Amino acid sequence: MSNTFPKHTPAEPENLSDTTDFDHAPVVGARSDAFLDQTLRPASWDEYIGQESIKNNLHILITAAKERQTPPEHILFYGPPGLGKTTLAHLIAHELGGSLRATSGPAIERVGDLAAILTNLQPGDILFIDEIHRLSRNIEEVLYPAMESGVLNIIIGKGPSARTLDLPLPPFTMIAATTRVADLSAPLRSRFSGGVFRLEFYSEDEIAKIVERSARILGIETAADGVREIARRSRSTPRTANYLLKRARDWAQLKRTALTKDAVDASLGLLEVDQLGLTPVDRAILLTIIERFHGGPAGVSALGAALSEEPNTISEVHEPFLLQLGLIERTPRGRVATRAAYKHLGKKPPEDLNERLL
Ligand code: ADE
Repeated sequence: MSNTFPKHTPAEPENLSDTTDFDHAPVVGARSDAFLDQTLRPASWDEYIGQESIKNNLHILITAAKERQTPPEHILFYGPPGLGKTTLAHLIAHELGGSLRATSGPAIERVGDLAAILTNLQPGDILFIDEIHRLSRNIEEVLYPAMESGVLNIIIGKGPSARTLDLPLPPFTMIAATTRVADLSAPLRSRFSGGVFRLEFYSEDEIAKIVERSARILGIETAADGVREIARRSRSTPRTANYLLKRARDWAQLKRTALTKDAVDASLGLLEVDQLGLTPVDRAILLTIIERFHGGPAGVSALGAALSEEPNTISEVHEPFLLQLGLIERTPRGRVATRAAYKHLGKKPPEDLNERLL
């Protein structure tokens, strides 16, 4: 058994990608910006803007656990990418004074990987597992007793001489994050007895505050109308807002101009991020539903095939925001473009649109 954590310890910036594809960059952040993303991560609860209900509940959970001098129970965060799930995990670890041991579902390939992680935990550590929905079932089964009773059951040997060994683990809190909560098995979900929290999209005012804070940290001078325009086009998502801020800053720097609304309009126009914050892939999804599928309903797999996009990327990254804006609706038979989608793309809606939305 290896004594090191598989792949991701210490914590890496979340959801990094090597992509230079601009359409994906606003969503996942480019690797060259990874360092800046870390710099912009709030280091205290006061700096963490929004998600008020989650923060209030976490405050009670953590304060009460601290008073009892026990680690808080396990916590699950879910929701679209870029809303601050990893940041919350860091803040909780900081508040508890423990270390955050970070890994991810796909990094835990074998039971031995998980055993190495668990047996290396120190009392009071926080184990953060990102993309928990990608854990395999046999690993989940090792996780259950570890989460519930603080023991690691391992099988030693094979065949008739095989024995199980119950190793007691130090008290720890597990925090997991996922963009696909529906993919978690019911038994796994039920073990997050500290709470299962859904992160919400941010309001425009909250994003404007985040952009102002990031601009201050990065030493970028902004005009109020420039900040507002970035917030408006940010997909209600802090990670995207920070990405757009940095790209608009690059443009304004080269043009020797201030970061005004005009500068933001021009630079985001070059990135093909439109007035609603839609990227070319978002618009292609809407256009495909409208033109190829005659307004829908269209299944995610069929959409993925038509667009040469991963169905998971469509359902985890693009669809939540299109739903939030009311540009698509989910029906039992698939996704349907709404009147607002036709209007946004300058298309005429079909006569029977209302029936399709049923
Ligand atoms: N950066 C990313 N998410 C943030 C948040 N919720 N508050 C402040 N800054 C952030």
